[in-house]
Amino acid sequence: MSFNSDRRKALKKFALFWASSPLLQGQFGPREGHQRVPSLDEIANVLEFEPVARAKMKQIDYDYVAGAVEGEYSLKRNRRAFDWVSITPRGMTHVESIDTSVVLLGQRMEYPLLVDPSSGHERLHPGGEPETRRGASAAETPMVVSNQAGFPIDQIAKAAKGPIWQQLYIHRNREAARERVVRATDAGCGAICLTVDAQYSSLRERLRHDRHLTMRSKNTLPNRRSRRRRGASTTNRRQKTVYGTRPESPDETWEFFETLRSWTDLPLLAKGLLTAEDAELAVKYGVEAIVVSNHGARYLEYTPSTIEVLPEIVDAVGGRIPVLIDSGFRRGDDVFKALAIGADAVLVGRPPLWGLGAFGAAGVERVLRMLQAELVLAMAHTGCARISDINRSLIKMSFP
Ligand SMILES: Cc1cc2nc3c(=O)[nH]c(=O)nc-3n(C[C@H](O)[C@H](O)[C@H](O)COP(=O)(O)O)c2cc1C
Repeated sequence: MSFNSDRRKALKKFALFWASSPLLQGQFGPREGHQRVPSLDEIANVLEFEPVARAKMKQIDYDYVAGAVEGEYSLKRNRRAFDWVSITPRGMTHVESIDTSVVLLGQRMEYPLLVDPSSGHERLHPGGEPETRRGASAAETPMVVSNQAGFPIDQIAKAAKGPIWQQLYIHRNREAARERVVRATDAGCGAICLTVDAQYSSLRERLRHDRHLTMRSKNTLPNRRSRRRRGASTTNRRQKTVYGTRPESPDETWEFFETLRSWTDLPLLAKGLLTAEDAELAVKYGVEAIVVSNHGARYLEYTPSTIEVLPEIVDAVGGRIPVLIDSGFRRGDDVFKALAIGADAVLVGRPPLWGLGAFGAAGVERVLRMLQAELVLAMAHTGCARISDINRSLIKMSFP
């Protein structure tokens, strides 16, 4: 009896050891767990789109989208910080009909939600940005098109109806930037959004690890000629031999908004602010709206999450211009929290990309519709029939 039980124990131990062994796991393909890709209807929330998109992507492309700067501390903090804000329910209110529409920069939107600018849509779907735009428009959501889009702005604009804005980088070539602004204006864009947090490239460790997957990764190993063209200083050159980082627009200052103003009458946004001081400067230089953003944690490591700095920025701006926010938003409840603190709208970066990679335009649409539906539910449970009913009394913040 005791011999049998010892034997059973030993066998069980061995089986457990073997089951957890990397040797055994090595026998499964990397897509273990994704043998049957779920259909669009089976996906329960926005986060569940990521593994589906991942299963269809090359590792280097997945890492490009998922990755962030250095050790990805800020990336995790962007999500964790939402746990530090709780929502207070309010029952027994009139919530028969819930109106989520807002007017932002003179433009009516069905929801205070926009698609963030992001590059590399073709890495996820051959239809690229026009495909994303079709999905965004189907979900009545404005799209901000990246400076680095793979398709020309007029083609993206024509792909569907609905508001579209242009994001801008300067990258030293001001004439190219001016032409982009003119083309965006001609294509019917409703605003120009200048990104102010990417004056140097950043260290994306995932991409460094992936260098062996391509002959040369553009993000990590720029060639000498492009470095010289950008006029890098000796110090910068030395840094680059170690990490491949480089200056992108090191001479861009707030005065540049005056130049930008001379190029277009469209509303101007500054994207990438994390302090009340910078918000003040944006107002001073005539910027029409700001986007509180840490670029999805892709540039400077150890920044705070955006939801943590939102209160001080909203208070500093004091309603003079709209305050938009992004970085880490994955739930309609997250959107509700930002609106309660005082944001005017929220942008989402990676989620529509996951939708695009997983199911094309239909995936983009579903991702946005899920966020909208969750926002409506949060409003219903807090007694908010209109966006303007959402306020700070409905949340509790306990940031460390
Ligand atoms: C793959 C990828 C590409 C991006 N490209 C740009 C870009 O070209 N211009 C820009 O201003 N921001 C870019 N961003 C940053 C987003 O606009 C946004 O700030 C960020 O993704 C928000 O964080 P989230 O992804 O957690 O929602 C990019 C982000 C990702 C993930």
